[in-house]
Parts: sequence; C-alpha cells; structure tokens
Amino acid sequence: MHDPQAFAGRHVFVAGGSSGINLGIAQAFARAGAHVTVMSRSPDKVQQAADGLRALGAQALGISADVRDAAAVEAALHQSHEKFGDIDVLVSGAAGNFLAPAKDLSPNGFKTVIDIDLNGTFHVLRLAYPMLRKPGASVINISAPQGVNPTMYQVHACAAKAGIDMMTRVLAMEWGEAGVRVNAIAPGPIADTEGIRRLAPTPEAMAAATAVVPLQRMGTLDDIANMALFLSSPLASFVTGAVIPVDGGSSLPGGRDMRASYVPRSAA
Ligand code: HXC
Ligand code: NAP
Repeated sequence: MHDPQAFAGRHVFVAGGSSGINLGIAQAFARAGAHVTVMSRSPDKVQQAADGLRALGAQALGISADVRDAAAVEAALHQSHEKFGDIDVLVSGAAGNFLAPAKDLSPNGFKTVIDIDLNGTFHVLRLAYPMLRKPGASVINISAPQGVNPTMYQVHACAAKAGIDMMTRVLAMEWGEAGVRVNAIAPGPIADTEGIRRLAPTPEAMAAATAVVPLQRMGTLDDIANMALFLSSPLASFVTGAVIPVDGGSSLPGGRDMRASYVPRSAA
C-alpha cells in the first residue's frame, strides 16, 4: 500500500490477534492508521499485543476472550464497537493445531480444533455481523492450504479449514447485498510462527517444508498482512468469496516436484 494512512480511523478487529500471522496483520493495519482491537485467550498476550500496537501510533484495545465462548466473543465485539464504532475490517484467525494420526486422535482432540477454528470463526462472524459497516466492511478468514489439500496427521485441521473455506463462500453470497465482502487467506508455511513450529518441528522438517515451495522460501508475516491490506482496500472492491493462497505456489493444484526424477536428455 503506498498511502501510509490508507486506513486512518478505520476500526479493525482481529480475533486471535495476539501473536504470529494475525498479530502481523493487526500491526500492518495499525501502521496504516487504523484503530485496532486484538482478542485472544491470554490476558497477558492481548495486553502485550495492544501495547505494541500503541507503540506504532495506533489506538488499540486488547481483550481476553475464547472464540469457543459465544457470549465472551459478543461482549468483546461490543466493547470494541463502543470504543471504535462500526467494524470496517474483521479478521478471524484464532486456531489450534498439532500433528496427530487420526487413529490416535481422541474425540475431544478432534472436537477441540473444530471448536476453535470452525465454530469459533462462525461465532466471530455471526456475532460481529450487526456491528459491521454496511456497506463497506471487509471480512477476512484465515484458512490454510489444508482446507483443500489432504494432509496426513491433520484430519482435524483439514476438516476445520475446509469448513472455513465454505463458510467464506456462503457468507459472501448472503452478505453481498449489504455491501459486506467475505474472503479468506490461505497462508503457506510462514517463518517464525507457532504454526510452522508445530508442523515442521525439526530442521529436517523445516527444510522439507521449504523445498516444496516453488519460490524456495518460507513466507513472512508481511506477505500475509499485505494480502489483508489489499483485500480491505478499494483495489479489491469487487473481490468476495475468494479463498486466496499466499503460499509461494506450494499448493498449486496437483503439483508434483519432478526435479529428482528428471535426467537431462543429453546425460541419459
Ligand atoms: C493429540 C492432543 C494434542 C496432541 C492436545 N490434544 N494436544 N491430541 N496430540 N499434540 C488433545 C488433548 O489430549 C485433549 O483431548 C484435547 O486435545 C484438548 O486439549 P487441551 O490441551 O485441553 O485443549 P486446550 O487447552 O483448549 O488447547 C487447545 C490446543 C492447544 C489446540 C490443544 O495446542 C492450543 O491452545 N493451541 C493454540 C496455539 C496453536 O496451536 N497455534 C498454531 C496454530 S497453527 P482429551 O481427549 O485428552 O481430553 C495452525 C496451522 C495451520 O493452525 C496449518 C494447518 C491447518
Ligand atoms: P499462533 O501465533 O498460535 O496464532 C494463533 C492465535 O489464536 C493466537 O493469538 C492465540 O492466542 C489465538 N487463539 C488460539 N486459540 C484461541 C481461542 N480458543 N480463542 C481465542 N483465541 C485463540 O499461530 P500462527 O501460526 O500465527 O497461526 C495464525 C493463523 O494462521 C491460524 O489461523 C493458522 O491456522 C493460520 N495458518 C498458519 C500457518 C503457518 O505457517 N503458521 C499456515 C497456514 C495457516 P491465545 O493463545 O492467547 O489464545
């Protein structure tokens, strides 16, 4: 974004915004002049995140609430709405994840991830709806390539993110006539995040996760935040119902890396 104050005075609410990718998004909007609320479970994390946003010059709120608790989410949204008015940008990115083979995953383990990622996203979007700016609001869900690409030991997260992708499309249809756009970002592997630490916990796993990215690097927090800024800007005013990969090409449909198999004709 070239205008450094492109979101001056806008109200941005980020569920799950106290760390990692979602905090990166909150910080990008803060730098662009927005008033920003971050919400997550840990009171310490939300306060620290809000302090950091204020240090960037933004007005900021940090509210502790669990996305699984609809009443707590609604109270958080009301508190933010009272302070900053109608919500211009709503980001739903709270998530929990771990690697677990399905045969070893307890029903509660599966339910926990579905409750945080999928049901939590429904709570955030549904309860925010009355407080969204109409027309004009931009809603952004944080999905993952696993919503489309089956991934071993991720039955819980794959199912949750697939649900989020479909929720994005359905609500884009339902809320379009009110002038509310609903999109999702599907980040690839992003460096220095809790997500990548859990999915690629060893140097070998990290190297393998990077090797399958056509652009041959992990993404950065700014790579994702830039897409959130774009989706919420007038440049994207005709974009809704899109689940946009920001992944260096790592989830290209049907993609297969054949470099190890290819022998140049001259050497065969
Ligand atoms: C198997 C596990 C497990 C593990 C927890 N469980 N960890 N099962 N392997 N490693 C099971 C528990 O045994 C329990 O089931 C159930 O899950 C709930 O566990 P709790 O610890 O009570 O849950 P809770 O305190 O609510 O914590 C939720 C959490 C935790 C998801 C388990 O890890 C968390 O708070 N994560 C938030 C941070 C995070 O994950 N960030 C990365 C997001 S990245 P039982 O049956 O024993 O009661 C991401 C990557 C995206 O999403 C890319 C892929 C989609
Ligand atoms: P992260 O730092 O752990 O971010 C998760 C955030 O959600 C934290 O702020 C956490 O704070 C909050 N949260 C978790 N459970 C919550 C709950 N029940 N209620 C409210 N807030 C909750 O991880 P990340 O890697 O940056 O992931 C952020 C998003 O990007 C997630 O949606 C993830 O699925 C997605 N993603 C990440 C990657 C990656 O490479 N990292 C790739 C694809 C998709 P508290 O602990 O305080 O609650």
